[in-house]
Amino acid sequence: MSTHDRLLIIDFGSQVTQLIARRLRELNTYCEIHPYQNVTDAFLRDFAPRAVILSGGPASVIDEASPRPPESVFSLGVPVLGICYGQQVMMQMLGGRVERGHGTAEFGRAYVAPAARHEALLLGWFLDGREQVWMSHGDHVSAIAPGFEVYGTSPNAPFAITGDPARHFYAVQFHPEVHHTPNGRTFFENFLRIAGFTGDWTMGAYREEAIARIREEVGDAHVICGLSGGVDSSVTAVLLHEAIGDQLTCVFVDHGLLRQNEAEEVVAMFRDHYNIKLIHADESELFLGELEGVSDPEQKRKTIGRLFIDVFQKYAGRIERAEFLAQGTLYPDVIESVSFSGGPSVTIKSHHNVGGLPEKMGLKLVEPLRELFKDEVRALGHELGLPASFIGRHPFPGPGLAIRCPGEITREKLDILRKADAVFIDQIRKHGLYDEIWQAFVAILPVRTVGVMGDGRTYDFACALRAVTSVDGMTADYYPFSHEFLGETATRIINEVQGINRVTYDITSKPPGTIEWE
Ligand code: XMP
Repeated sequence: MSTHDRLLIIDFGSQVTQLIARRLRELNTYCEIHPYQNVTDAFLRDFAPRAVILSGGPASVIDEASPRPPESVFSLGVPVLGICYGQQVMMQMLGGRVERGHGTAEFGRAYVAPAARHEALLLGWFLDGREQVWMSHGDHVSAIAPGFEVYGTSPNAPFAITGDPARHFYAVQFHPEVHHTPNGRTFFENFLRIAGFTGDWTMGAYREEAIARIREEVGDAHVICGLSGGVDSSVTAVLLHEAIGDQLTCVFVDHGLLRQNEAEEVVAMFRDHYNIKLIHADESELFLGELEGVSDPEQKRKTIGRLFIDVFQKYAGRIERAEFLAQGTLYPDVIESVSFSGGPSVTIKSHHNVGGLPEKMGLKLVEPLRELFKDEVRALGHELGLPASFIGRHPFPGPGLAIRCPGEITREKLDILRKADAVFIDQIRKHGLYDEIWQAFVAILPVRTVGVMGDGRTYDFACALRAVTSVDGMTADYYPFSHEFLGETATRIINEVQGINRVTYDITSKPPGTIEWE
């Protein structure tokens, strides 16, 4: 448990609750999101927040069964900020009134004009007269609670910004957490200052604390860490190594479906540079053998997943006194989200490569990143001295090149694919585009086409380039390369990679496509 000043975000099911946490973390403030159903009087006492934020949500406070925080939130003696639904629930509970829309619903951009002045809350606000904000509400507050004053109004929200300065309760109708409220960060900064936060949540401090916690948790036992070369498992491994040194052994399963030079790079970085005990489990023969003749995408995934667990277990079983399995689980994987069809539901990624293993092997889990968002993991990676080339890597799927080789997988196709992929990534890096792109790769297509090179006819594979922008991989857009870039890349691939004589660019977004071809 963190020793920092803590802010509690009570979630009422808004689509953007996570963004509140992101904004606060950017302001070096430790916060946690908990669904309203879990926030009881006892929970509040234990959590001991320095401030509370009530999130937005889809319910209407006018409905009797609508969600509420416990009354005791308002008697903790700490500042409370209500956002959208949070504002309405606050007004309702503290003696104000909320009414249904009737022409006052507002969705999208709105402008708030200043009313009474609250210097501390509105420092840096209204410098140009009004502020752009993002509204998304059906109901509206029609009477504010006793003790509240109005600091900002919009045409459809006369109580856009309100507050009770004596108790430090503040309530806003708009969403300061979204990008469409450009000055939202300053608003949060002001609220945090009023609440007495000092900005003590930094990656430097986190590193020290995480190391102390790992040492305490693990004692003198041994820890196994599955290393994929991706940023999450790399940061997990380096952090653990700093904490427990030789009590850590990493297992890197090489299934023969990695990109060019990938295995060498991982071994060079972790074994040679960091001096981490690393088992390089080269099992490519086993995987490729079992995949022979398999062309169905799900069958490929199942085969790889099954073998992965077997192989991991085989190597991990050789590590003496291993009691823990390290996993690079992140905060978004463990946040419980509010579900209105029932109780709180837990969202956990389904494709953890070692799913089911801890129970099977009788291992306990150590998850030192489970409080962090992805960009905090990157910041921690920098802090730990991992090279930028590892931290900024594009994501790579567990089944690797198997799902970039539609149809049957052969060694020949994999070799061709690796070379083409390396040229494409080289082009992207040379043009300074790598960090703008979320993921880029080549897929080798299960089709041979006719071409002409020199005086001869060729009959070789076609390939597809894929490059997308995305925030989380859930939706994606194809990257708008220039025609010059595409032409140059196609020429290089055909000239440098024997076995490919045709290059296409995939311009499908997700949805309706997926990022990978299988
Ligand atoms: P799709 O193709 O579903 O990909 O749009 C979204 C993101 O997930 C990755 N991906 C996988 N990762 N095992 C993984 O570990 C898988 O089976 C798998 N399938 C897709 C994909 O690379 C992209 O980042």
